Amino acid sequence: MKLAVLRERRAHETRVAATVDSVKRLIALGFDVCIESGAGHFASVTDTAYAAAGATIAADAAAALAGSDVVLKVQRPLIGAEGEIDELGLMKPGTLLIGMFAPYGERAAIDAFARQGVSACSMELVPRISRAQSMDVLSSQANLAGYKSVLDAAAEFGRAMPMMMTAAGTIAPAKVFVLGAGVAGLQAIATARRLGAVVSATDVRPAAKEQVESLGATFVWLESDEAKQAETKGGYAKEMSADYQRRQAELVADTLKKQDIVICTAAIPGKQAPRLVSAEMVRSMRPGSVIVDLAVESGGNCALSQPGHVVDVDGVRVVGHRNVPGRLPVDASALYARNLVAFLALFVDSTTKTLRLDVEDEIVKATMLTRGGAVIHPAFAAASSPTGKA
Ligand code: NAI
Repeated sequence: MKLAVLRERRAHETRVAATVDSVKRLIALGFDVCIESGAGHFASVTDTAYAAAGATIAADAAAALAGSDVVLKVQRPLIGAEGEIDELGLMKPGTLLIGMFAPYGERAAIDAFARQGVSACSMELVPRISRAQSMDVLSSQANLAGYKSVLDAAAEFGRAMPMMMTAAGTIAPAKVFVLGAGVAGLQAIATARRLGAVVSATDVRPAAKEQVESLGATFVWLESDEAKQAETKGGYAKEMSADYQRRQAELVADTLKKQDIVICTAAIPGKQAPRLVSAEMVRSMRPGSVIVDLAVESGGNCALSQPGHVVDVDGVRVVGHRNVPGRLPVDASALYARNLVAFLALFVDSTTKTLRLDVEDEIVKATMLTRGGAVIHPAFAAASSPTGKA
């Protein structure tokens, strides 16, 4: 079983889909691992380190992909004339291709996977069941993003975070408000607390209250019958009604004025991020305040955040870094690579050390987008067209 790991070529991507540790685990599963030269550069893994772990180093993507049965990626492979090479076009039909393909925004890519005949699995679709916890890339990456968002805020903030009592006077602790208390938000709360800030947070899901409070933060919640039903069976938030959104905006506007730092993490799977901070709210904050918008790449929780930029709005700094997990490439790669090993074990017969596909497995069903030339995932199959122009 040959398994290839490519150098990520898409803009702003610093992570890699295998580390020294994961290469050893993949070899133990029975794979011959081939890494494209330079793949681990930004994650501080050298070709020499991969080779010492037992991998073969290929000079380029074509050599890495030649004869490969499995391909591990972080982001979508380059497709057609999209980039310097057609990575997808170099994969043989039947290849098991695994990565984070952002499927909800990438219909054309899903159709291209089908046309190439690869079996593509998107790791964001791993269901949140106990058996799949070790494969949960949304959690592993969001956790790091939540942590980094607070450090990014601290770096832009012209003040200290903790209260300091000195002979020259007392410095008040920073007030941090976290919007969205899922995986990223809870880690942002914990990080801000560790830095000594006074933290509050909001979410639509009532279950978030206990988690927020257990981290020593105050929960700000708009209580209503609708909010009591705001959580889906999968634990995610629902899109709220216009009336709820209006009343929530009033609550956020009121809370925001008193804050120094706002960390935005609110998201709804497969949808645009909810818009929670208007331009007017940004302008209501004191100069020197900082907003970090982790949702900037999915439409933004803040109206004024711009992907890849730190914007100054009358002295309020609005931070919109792209790919925040990728700002911690070593840890983000290490956790992602471990998620992949756990996932890939589903496809390996441990006795014969051969690939086997259990299409009835709940996790395989939830993640596999394409197989045998067709789009097979129920969420995407209906909208697909054989020409890929759906
Ligand atoms: P996410 O990334 O989809 O959303 C982030 C947060 O934004 C969520 O807490 C969501 O409720 C909140 N949000 C959405 N719309 C909002 C709005 N209008 N205003 C304020 N907040 C809003 O969610 P994430 O972080 O992936 O976690 C979702 C849930 O899944 C959580 O309950 C988490 O504890 C749970 N979870 C379960 C796991 C498991 O069972 N294996 C693993 C990881 C998370």
